[in-house]
Amino acid sequence: MRPCGRDAQGPDRRGETSAGTVQQPGARIHAHAARLNPGGRTPEAATRRRDGGDTVTGSTIGAAPLLQVSDVNVVYRGAGWRRPTFHALHDVSLDIRAGETLGLVGESGSGKTTLGRAVLGLADVSSGSVSFDGDDITRATRRTRRALSRDIQVVFQDPYSSLNPAMTVASILAEPITAHGATRQEAAARIAELLDQIGLEPDAGRRYPREFSGGQRQRIAIARALALRPRLIVCDEPVSALDLSTQARILDLLIDIQVTTGVAYLFISHDLSVVRYISHRVAVMLDGQILESGDGDKVTSTPEHPYTQRLLLASPIPDPARQAQRRHDYANLA
Ligand SMILES: Nc1ncnc2c1ncn2[C@@H]1O[C@H](COP(=O)(O)OP(=O)(O)O)[C@@H](O)[C@H]1O
Ligand SMILES: [Mg+2]
Repeated sequence: MRPCGRDAQGPDRRGETSAGTVQQPGARIHAHAARLNPGGRTPEAATRRRDGGDTVTGSTIGAAPLLQVSDVNVVYRGAGWRRPTFHALHDVSLDIRAGETLGLVGESGSGKTTLGRAVLGLADVSSGSVSFDGDDITRATRRTRRALSRDIQVVFQDPYSSLNPAMTVASILAEPITAHGATRQEAAARIAELLDQIGLEPDAGRRYPREFSGGQRQRIAIARALALRPRLIVCDEPVSALDLSTQARILDLLIDIQVTTGVAYLFISHDLSVVRYISHRVAVMLDGQILESGDGDKVTSTPEHPYTQRLLLASPIPDPARQAQRRHDYANLA
């Protein structure tokens, strides 16, 4: 369904260099193609493998919401004496169905991370509710949260700080698995599966995070998130620290994983073209509020809200003529 640029390059596109070679065939879409892609994903696209065939695999988007965020407010308490409070989220509502990607886009400071943290139970919700698979988890106890960590996982922007540098990749991946009661043997089998799933060689497990490139490290962070077969992953700017071609490969990996496992993503990014590429639906956030949300294609190509129009016109495209037109349109908006 993607219009341009697929397989336009040679076989070494997955040139994520340094230790640990990537086994899988090359990335299917070059970053620029991703950026040129005018449409978002459709629910139908989610069920298609994009490696050439139209093989429809098991993943379909569920009917009932898996995650439901209703009228959530988050107020940060100021630290210290008489520090003011900060109202970071205002009546935020959204939902995500099983197997679906909801892209949350907005400028820095708009409250995206706060929303992700509220879902993960890392930010206190002042009012409103978060429910997962029908259960209210807004103020889940530590014990419930621990059980929930099977189902809800997270991938952060910076794998440097999220992966323990003193641990081998195998022990990083083993940690969540054994913490939930698996034997060492079971863990080893699961680690082999995970390394294969993210396209690293089996012996990558013996190495340390520093021995990998940024893209490979992000793959390892993704594997760790996948270890317990979660149903939802909060991806907070997972490709923002990567160069363009690596971004595209990681996005493709996330899509492939979704197709094969049926996991849902809350995909957070400040970059409209990244969100457009991976999301079925998109919500636009500004100053702690959702300005508009809906079908990814529609919101990212013909947005209704002036702020989203601005965001769209400000997002760079690698076509000088279209970019010039955008600059012109943007100037006229202002
Ligand atoms: N722990 C905190 N205490 C007080 N204010 C915070 C805290 N975390 C974030 N903020 C503020 O909340 C707003 C939203 O932040 P954040 O959710 O990180 O936005 P985004 O992820 O969209 O960049 C920002 O103005 C930020 O300064
Ligand atoms: Mg953030």
